[in-house]
Amino acid sequence: MADISIAVGSDHAGFELKEAIREYLESLNLSVKDFGTFTTDSVDYPDFAYAVASAVAKGEFDRGILICGTGIGMSIVANKVKGIRAAECTTSYLAEMSRRHNNANVLTLGGRVLSAEEAQTIVRVWLETPFEGGRHQRRIDKIHYLTGM
Ligand code: RB5
Repeated sequence: MADISIAVGSDHAGFELKEAIREYLESLNLSVKDFGTFTTDSVDYPDFAYAVASAVAKGEFDRGILICGTGIGMSIVANKVKGIRAAECTTSYLAEMSRRHNNANVLTLGGRVLSAEEAQTIVRVWLETPFEGGRHQRRIDKIHYLTGM
């Protein structure tokens, strides 16, 4: 697997899965920074989504992985940060296509949706799959040009 740096974050509902995914990434010897949360105490997902997405947008990390209960809140927030293309993936097919066609730089997952094993497979595919470029680059350029984001 390519040597990429990854920022991870979750709220309380994604905490357990975030811990499992962080350990998985570390087992692959990838560079990982954990932005929290660090307990199951109730917190607000926008705080963690914004911190991780902003760090990726600034180029401090190659990719971000965000986990809340459903993955939806994290996706909504991350996609409001300029330069971010966040994709919620519930299957490895979605993970593959979010990389091949959308060059997603943030993956969002639902801690109340996926088992750790399912999530690990999705993360592995998401990290291993390259962007195809070509006509897909033109479409991505349009996302940012048309939205100013
Ligand atoms: C927390 O209960 C839950 O709302 C949050 O984790 C997330 O699923 C929101 O989209």
